[in-house]
Amino acid sequence: MNDRMITGVPEEYEKIREATAELQFTMASDVYTGSLLKTLAASRPSGRFLELGTGTGLATAWIVAGMDKKSSLLTIENNTLLIDVAKKYIDDSRVEFVLTDAYEWITGYRGEKFDFIFADAMPGKYDLFGETIGILKNGGLYIIDDMLPQPNWPLGHDLRVAEFIRHLEERNDVLMTKMNWSTGIIIVTKREQ
Ligand SMILES: C[S@@+](CC[C@H](N)C(=O)[O-])C[C@H]1O[C@@H](n2cnc3c(N)ncnc32)[C@H](O)[C@@H]1O
Repeated sequence: MNDRMITGVPEEYEKIREATAELQFTMASDVYTGSLLKTLAASRPSGRFLELGTGTGLATAWIVAGMDKKSSLLTIENNTLLIDVAKKYIDDSRVEFVLTDAYEWITGYRGEKFDFIFADAMPGKYDLFGETIGILKNGGLYIIDDMLPQPNWPLGHDLRVAEFIRHLEERNDVLMTKMNWSTGIIIVTKREQ
């Protein structure tokens, strides 16, 4: 098996990737994560999707490519320059781009729960995890990447990662699988207590 053979790359992917490189944005998700997100997104027909940390929209494009016509995605980013790239290339009525602080958004959210959360920012992952898993439906998917050491990790981030993984392992309301693949993926689901 050659896992480097990636199929079904979203149409807009290359243009977003070029714009991302121009901005010298180095925190973008890789194609492996993207491909996984697309596959998992397709498993949630009529799903409510949430992405925390749109960046320039690389993962957004993959998620959208997996969503069916009745699904919708809310994607949150606090950097105008980055989210504007995503908005420019992902023109899809199923997607709502929200320019705001995800800490405030998560703590203020009172709407319907989500079927799928890609948590790709500090808020929703290392911070406010309990609140974020609280807005995931039972049986919903919560996905995170960058769990293996990355060149752009700030000093001390490895300790934060280890602590977060330990926290996940200790919770009895979640089931999880850790994958030493791509940038290090963890897939979590939540079961009814
Ligand atoms: C790892 S990057 C996201 C990459 C993106 N999902 C992709 O696929 O390329 C994390 C993003 O979270 C954003 N971010 C960081 N803190 C945030 C906050 N408090 N609220 C909203 N977005 C935030 C950053 O600006 C950055 O774009």
